[in-house]
Amino acid sequence: MNIAVAAPLPHGPSPHASAGPTPDRAAYDALMQVMAQRSTARRFDPAEYVSDATYRLIIDAARLAPSGANAQPWHFVVVTSSWTKHVMANLLEDAQARRVARGQCAAPIDYSGIETAAGCIVVVTDFRLTWAFPGLMAGTELDQRYHATAERIILQSVSAATTAAHLAATSLGYRTWWLSAAGQDALQAELHKLLDVPEDLTITDIMLFGSVRQEAPKRWKKQIEDIISWDTFDRQNFRSLAQIDAWLADVRSEGPKLPNK
Ligand SMILES: Cc1cc2nc3c(=O)[nH]c(=O)nc-3n(C[C@H](O)[C@H](O)[C@H](O)COP(=O)(O)O)c2cc1C
Repeated sequence: MNIAVAAPLPHGPSPHASAGPTPDRAAYDALMQVMAQRSTARRFDPAEYVSDATYRLIIDAARLAPSGANAQPWHFVVVTSSWTKHVMANLLEDAQARRVARGQCAAPIDYSGIETAAGCIVVVTDFRLTWAFPGLMAGTELDQRYHATAERIILQSVSAATTAAHLAATSLGYRTWWLSAAGQDALQAELHKLLDVPEDLTITDIMLFGSVRQEAPKRWKKQIEDIISWDTFDRQNFRSLAQIDAWLADVRSEGPKLPNK
């Protein structure tokens, strides 16, 4: 189909469409309450314990997540051992120290909070499931590009499941910490060994959760008008690299002092 982009596209629904069912605001409000409650904590009440049944509730939410080609490319390792959490915290600290030494870490994080988390789930991804997407896979350049797309789909799928787990934990009253800084080769190898994860699989992130003694202030979020376009992309909301630089340096951490466009 040849789409003439110069002409304005017709807006609005088809004249034959009728209004759908009245949205169920009660269910939406309940969901939004959980969404709004979710926020990242990096230190928890260390005197807490998470039961196996609670872990199952959380991972059951992840299990129901959508995934590309229904590949379900995830596995969840529940870490109950305080010794393992202690070793994980040390491994992440060491990996961060290596990044700091190379000048690759602007804002170091205190990973000792890992040891305070009552709940710990390591998210493992099976990228071999890119095979679930039919393609030629004969090693051509086109195949490689197709494979890169399939990898993105796998990652999106695992993110969907991980988000579901975080929201489930939030709905149970916990605060959560999504830790993705496990990507360095050396750290991957160390975590694989610690948790006996098969070499073919990737540790994508670590989910920590627990109760907090004090709520952290909510982080600033963009306004809906800044992230929404109708029918075609609203170029008012397209930012140049210079504007992104300014935003990263100034607005993101402390909220909007600068106009956001
Ligand atoms: C994909 C993803 C990766 C993240 N990785 C890390 C991480 O490696 N270390 C960390 O301390 N926080 C990490 N976070 C947490 C973010 O810093 C946090 O979500 C963000 O600052 C917004 O704050 P909020 O979660 O309170 O809304 C990650 C979050 C997501 C969704």
